[in-house]
Amino acid sequence: MSAYIGVYGMGVMGQSLALNIAGHGYQVAVCNLEPEVTRAFLENRGADRPGLIPCYSLEAFVQALERPRRVLLMITAGPAVDQVTDQLLPLLDPGDIVIDGGNSFYADTRRREKALGAKGIRFFGMGISGGERGALEGPCMMPGGHRETYRELEALLSAISAKAEDGSPCCTYIGEDGAGHYVKMVHNGIEYADIQLICECYGLMRQVAGFTVQECQAVFEGWNRGRLGSYLIEITGKILKVQDPDTGKPLVDVILDTAGQKGTGMWTSTEGLSMGVAVPTIAQAVFARCLSAQKEERVAASRRFSWEAPPIRDRAAFLQDLEESLYAAKICAYAQGFSLLRAAAKEFGWNLDYASIALIWRGGCIIRARLLDDIAAAFQAEPDCANLMGTAVFGPVLQKAQAAWRRTAALSVQSGAACPALLSAISYFDFSRTADCPASLLQAQRDFFGAHCYRRKDREGVFHTQWE
Ligand code: 6PG
Repeated sequence: MSAYIGVYGMGVMGQSLALNIAGHGYQVAVCNLEPEVTRAFLENRGADRPGLIPCYSLEAFVQALERPRRVLLMITAGPAVDQVTDQLLPLLDPGDIVIDGGNSFYADTRRREKALGAKGIRFFGMGISGGERGALEGPCMMPGGHRETYRELEALLSAISAKAEDGSPCCTYIGEDGAGHYVKMVHNGIEYADIQLICECYGLMRQVAGFTVQECQAVFEGWNRGRLGSYLIEITGKILKVQDPDTGKPLVDVILDTAGQKGTGMWTSTEGLSMGVAVPTIAQAVFARCLSAQKEERVAASRRFSWEAPPIRDRAAFLQDLEESLYAAKICAYAQGFSLLRAAAKEFGWNLDYASIALIWRGGCIIRARLLDDIAAAFQAEPDCANLMGTAVFGPVLQKAQAAWRRTAALSVQSGAACPALLSAISYFDFSRTADCPASLLQAQRDFFGAHCYRRKDREGVFHTQWE
């Protein structure tokens, strides 16, 4: 019997997706560079799962597939994708489909789509979010490539994807060539910001307000029931319940405070810089990880620069402000991500549907959150809005949050608790609502030292002044 699709790459994600696909009644060929990995999969996680067809060479794998062939690559992003596609190419026929389900950089996807397209192979870059569990039980999928190819894949992808609370699949056609991977990259950028914002709120609770881990846990559990409800808030509540079996302390307290990163947040920030779109909260989240990694320097500097945080008198008011601030800052992080998507759509000629993107992010992915229903509604009502912050849905929310948000920002500065993402979010908000900003002076300076010229508020044209 031939397989409807083949999954190449038997890492955790590849295995989980293969199981997910087979669980939906499809025949799935599975293969890995090292045949013993495929064998081990079939003996363990894949044992007794009908629909899996193990293949121990690339040739056998390709032969096992019905035509047009559908190959899903679940391998580490980067050169490995080129290596495997190079090996696959002589074995494939025009019309076959290769889907890259890794966290590939969108520019690589654009290049591969073009190069393989010239040989008649339909290359699809598909962002997949949700980690191992999502891959197994239903991830959020962001596929990019030709729309007609998507139509052929739609039934399969919709079946295996997560479903939002209203039952709709968390998968939609995103756009041509690298659009799917671009949207996944921005998803990860927002993920970085969201994680950092949550950690800053936790830091304020612990270090400034003196909450215990248990008290923080209760706060996150409560927040998860409200408008902040989200996967990341939910897992934070769960994490804070876990004790270290060796010391009996909360596990979070024994984990070394140096963050890792694989680069997608950095890509989003770099993209913002190169597109001229401000994504400061995402970038600050990346910088925060960089600073966290400099543990020794931080420890040394903590001895050199001391500061006593003033005590918090009203814990209930502090918490209420914090909730408003986190919600407002989250809106800013999404606003930055969507602004970047808008610029990319213009640059690459993608017809991105922002409401649909928000809708598929409601399930399966790491940033799934209650807030996404409102984001989708905002874009449905105002698809051409310049910035999410100014929409009829979010404008009033931010207007109302301002007072609390400013108190939290001031508290973080007064207490000396580093909150780069929270502060960047409010600065982004403030800059974005500033009608007349000091860039007039900046332009004058540029004209002074470099004759870069300036435009005037009261007349058309370009001007230069002999300043001295
Ligand atoms: C997802 C995640 C996933 C992964 C990131 C984490 O959507 O499922 O974003 O892609 O967890 O690569 O990245 P860092 O290691 O950089 O935090």
